[in-house]
Amino acid sequence: MTGSTPRLVVLPAADWATAVAAELAERLSGRPDLRIVLPTGDTPSPLYEEVVRAEREDRLALGGVTIVQLDEWVGLPPDDPARCDRRLRTELVARLRTPPAAFVTIDVDGPDPDAAARRHDDAARGIGLALLGLGPNGHVGFNEPGSGPDDPTRLVRLAVSSRDAATARYGATRVPTAGITIGLARLLEADEAWLLVTGERKAAILRRVLVEPEGPDRPASYLRRHPRLTVFADAEAAALLPR
Ligand code: GLP
Repeated sequence: MTGSTPRLVVLPAADWATAVAAELAERLSGRPDLRIVLPTGDTPSPLYEEVVRAEREDRLALGGVTIVQLDEWVGLPPDDPARCDRRLRTELVARLRTPPAAFVTIDVDGPDPDAAARRHDDAARGIGLALLGLGPNGHVGFNEPGSGPDDPTRLVRLAVSSRDAATARYGATRVPTAGITIGLARLLEADEAWLLVTGERKAAILRRVLVEPEGPDRPASYLRRHPRLTVFADAEAAALLPR
């Protein structure tokens, strides 16, 4: 399977969130009942801030949308500040005037995470738009190095850098060793995928993901197979890409 060349949109850092939110508003006006995958992390936070503002000013509506959570730590208590479901709720879902039609989270608190992952694999079918972040090690969701394009939604062991991010950057109260992520197989089936990349610290990995041959050491590189992939980068993240 080969994709077409990704559409690369490079924006000044100050305009990044408003531009991505404006394009999201455009998609939603055409398909108000979109099924949409959303990530958490530092990258999408300013976008969610802008989406909340746009929703309050009637420039965007999420009332018909189903939000499907991209990934989650396994082993963190439900009220942990790093929990992805909690962040999505506090940064976006709970702040909307009209809540989404559904918010599908990953049931990591039940007794059987493998079964929860299989259920989430079903939830991750029929996706209209998948918004994705890029891990510093080339992961997407929790598809860590070693993941492949045929992987379903599943329970995964986390890379050390992801575990460090949970504790150092997101303030997790414990060090999680595992996660559940929507797999690349489902992400490649989405009608459209957007890779969101900001900041100088992502410049080297973005270049490796977009320019070097695809490979399992940088699972995000498999997104290039997607026929409708847009990379929304700010100027800092795009600094090492060829002109
Ligand atoms: C995390 C998440 C990803 C996220 C990525 C980048 O570990 N599992 O879904 O997109 O790392 O995070 P950030 O946007 O904070 O750089």
